[in-house]
Amino acid sequence: MLFSVILLAIAFLRLAESSMIFSSSKLDKRQLMVEEIFNGSPGFMCYADNYNILGNNWNHTYTMSEPQQLHISLTDDATHARVQFATLGKIQDSVLAYWPKKEYRNYHHRSNRASKNKIFLNGENWVFTDGGLAKRELYLHKFKTYALIPATIYAYQVGSVINNKIRWSKTYEFHTAPETNGFSFLATGDVGACNAVAVSHLIELGKTHKYDFVTLAGDQAYNMEDFNGTKGDEYMNFMQDLYAQVPYLGAVGNHEGAYNFTHYKNRFNIVPYTESKFDNSMFYSINYKSLHLVSFSTEVYFTGSTAEIRTALNWLEADLTKANKNREERPWVIFLTHHPIYCSVVSADCTTKASIIRDGVIGANNRTWGGLEDILLKHKVDIYMSGHVHNYERTYPVSKNKRIATSYHNSPSFFQIVIGNAGQPEGATPFGPGPYNDWSAKRYGSYGFSTFDVSRTAIHITHYQAHTDGRLGDVVDKFSVTKDPYRIKSKRNCKA
Ligand SMILES: [Fe+2]
Repeated sequence: MLFSVILLAIAFLRLAESSMIFSSSKLDKRQLMVEEIFNGSPGFMCYADNYNILGNNWNHTYTMSEPQQLHISLTDDATHARVQFATLGKIQDSVLAYWPKKEYRNYHHRSNRASKNKIFLNGENWVFTDGGLAKRELYLHKFKTYALIPATIYAYQVGSVINNKIRWSKTYEFHTAPETNGFSFLATGDVGACNAVAVSHLIELGKTHKYDFVTLAGDQAYNMEDFNGTKGDEYMNFMQDLYAQVPYLGAVGNHEGAYNFTHYKNRFNIVPYTESKFDNSMFYSINYKSLHLVSFSTEVYFTGSTAEIRTALNWLEADLTKANKNREERPWVIFLTHHPIYCSVVSADCTTKASIIRDGVIGANNRTWGGLEDILLKHKVDIYMSGHVHNYERTYPVSKNKRIATSYHNSPSFFQIVIGNAGQPEGATPFGPGPYNDWSAKRYGSYGFSTFDVSRTAIHITHYQAHTDGRLGDVVDKFSVTKDPYRIKSKRNCKA
């Protein structure tokens, strides 16, 4: 009974969020909800379009043992990588082969270079069972590399062992962190298995080895559990040409909520949550050169129990406290999540829901507790990066619903950036006629993606327009956030 109520609630939330689609269709909402609950969450069919057929991984017919859905993630400073893939059937074992291909970015310590011989690892293998009626099984495999050489391009393949033979995947490349503090990464959010307008540009930029990883602010596939989880497979195969070559450092969103987020927890099992002392991939952080990046699930405010909210906030407090002890080495803190706490679309997402996350939930005795903003201010977080709303918006430094600066230099508070406009079947969200709060600095109501160029004293952020015909458009927004160098203690003073 309780399970049915939970499923009903999930179905209702999805219907509410997708009301634009339903209002223009002739589907009977109650009939759809019943189908969604009792038929393994069929969802909406995604057909081949100009975006998801890229790389021919999406509509390829896979054999039971053929590797698919490759993706990669990193640990701190890319000292190790984790690789994951899937097979439709059970295999004897899984294998990762990787090898340093060439140095890049002026790597200076040639004497330390490992041999170019291939390194082979056996994987950790497990079965993921989708929560739909078919109880469809997917076989998952993951690896953690040995210590990697800095500033090096690696090539790798994964393999399925079947009948004592190895069936290898395509070869992909990724690279490790540079020796200098400067680096770049890609940022996006809200990507569908269809109508993923911006993804082709992310794939092309990923091939250049300029970008060290990609952040994704939640909501993928729309939805992974649809059609007994087969849409999740299609999506992961479509995204393989991005995720297998640019390490994934994303966050979870509400579209991953089915069956207690088990699709997300299993399919993205390679983010560094064990190093972050959390027990699943919905919460983690990573130190990367001058950056501390936190991935936090704001879904906990809507689906979690009181105890789960407290666990999440305690973890965040501990993580940021630790990060602040090392702020001289890693001056930047970016908070990555799905829901925004400031946005300018006229909807509950930007009012009621934003307020719950920002200011807290109402508990016993009508007391509000657990707001995120006080924690972020206390620990001097620099940037709040989110998705969920399907457009792009940048705020000025903001606190307690008030603009507190128009400069991004030595900002007294964080500012927020919404990047939920990669493209998905619900379409982009245009802005209304206003008026807008004075903390809203830039608004763009169509498709695009962002790049971040990071150094110890500046982050340069660029947002690009992506046209629906596949062309890369204009630069929509380009700005820099800067800070004076943190005072570096001399070793002599430390000894004293
Ligand atoms: Fe969302």
